[in-house]
Amino acid sequence: MTARALTLLSLCGDGIGPEIMQATKTVLNALSHSRGFQIDWVDMEIGFSALKANGSTISDTVITAAKETDGVLLGPVSHNAYPPISEGGLNPSGVLRRELQLYANIRPALSLQALPNPISRPIDLVIYRENLEGFYADRNMASGGSEFMAVDGVALSMRKITAQGSERIARAAFEGAMQRPAKQVTAVHKANVMRLTDGLFLQEVRKQAAQYPEVTYNEVLVDSAAALLVRDPKRFDVIVTTNMFGDILSDLGPACTGTIGVAPSGNINPERLFPSLFEPVHGSAPDIAGKGLANPLAQFLSFAMMLR
Ligand code: IPM
Ligand code: MG
Repeated sequence: MTARALTLLSLCGDGIGPEIMQATKTVLNALSHSRGFQIDWVDMEIGFSALKANGSTISDTVITAAKETDGVLLGPVSHNAYPPISEGGLNPSGVLRRELQLYANIRPALSLQALPNPISRPIDLVIYRENLEGFYADRNMASGGSEFMAVDGVALSMRKITAQGSERIARAAFEGAMQRPAKQVTAVHKANVMRLTDGLFLQEVRKQAAQYPEVTYNEVLVDSAAALLVRDPKRFDVIVTTNMFGDILSDLGPACTGTIGVAPSGNINPERLFPSLFEPVHGSAPDIAGKGLANPLAQFLSFAMMLR
């Protein structure tokens, strides 16, 4: 087999990030030797350490490097001492998702045999979360973006849903479902209340559903979806949803498998406009950082997603 060299950017982030990234690299370097491919790691600082060194949690140099590598492996980024955005405390993952146009946030929830299952029901589903719109469209804007004080005592948050954004995440979800045995897509929404925004989202998902006759399609309200995830998770195969619902359900889904501590994720631009970014769903767990207690599985499985 000819050796194929991959240049990957590694950003280990905060808290337990450095230790789980190190453990992941050890396994992967061994794997790459036995499987005949080569990984050239480019390591850069982000998060709290970058903030202290350069005044921002993520610098332009990192963004440029991310665009030039074959893929980005990110550790957890969160620190209770991040300052406001105007003082450099941006969420690095959010910045990279936007800069690299990674509109498909793919988050599997899969029961592992070794994990005690709190709901006593196996779970095997993938959430396709729209990653750039919704209530989070303008995240990382120092001005607050679509969130603002209307008048004293009244804060407003605007939710941006576009036909193009909905269409492309829907297409990604149906393409994903085609790769799975159950071939089923569920659109999760709240169109009974948010008639315009989720109405538009559903309209675009339905158009895609018509393009994929092999895929079974249904729709579930987000509150019911939360209950069903716990009570009857086998109803779900691929879930497609908007940004904030996906954010919430992608903690709930893996939690139903036992812990979000082993949940991987991919942030993808399916057209490959820019390289993709893979990261654990869990946070930086400062309480156990540096104690050798952190489980690197979510980081490792994120890398496995990247290789696939
Ligand atoms: C996630 C996280 C991030 C998000 C935070 C850390 C900004 O919750 O990846 O789910 O909101 O997307
Ligand atoms: Mg989240």
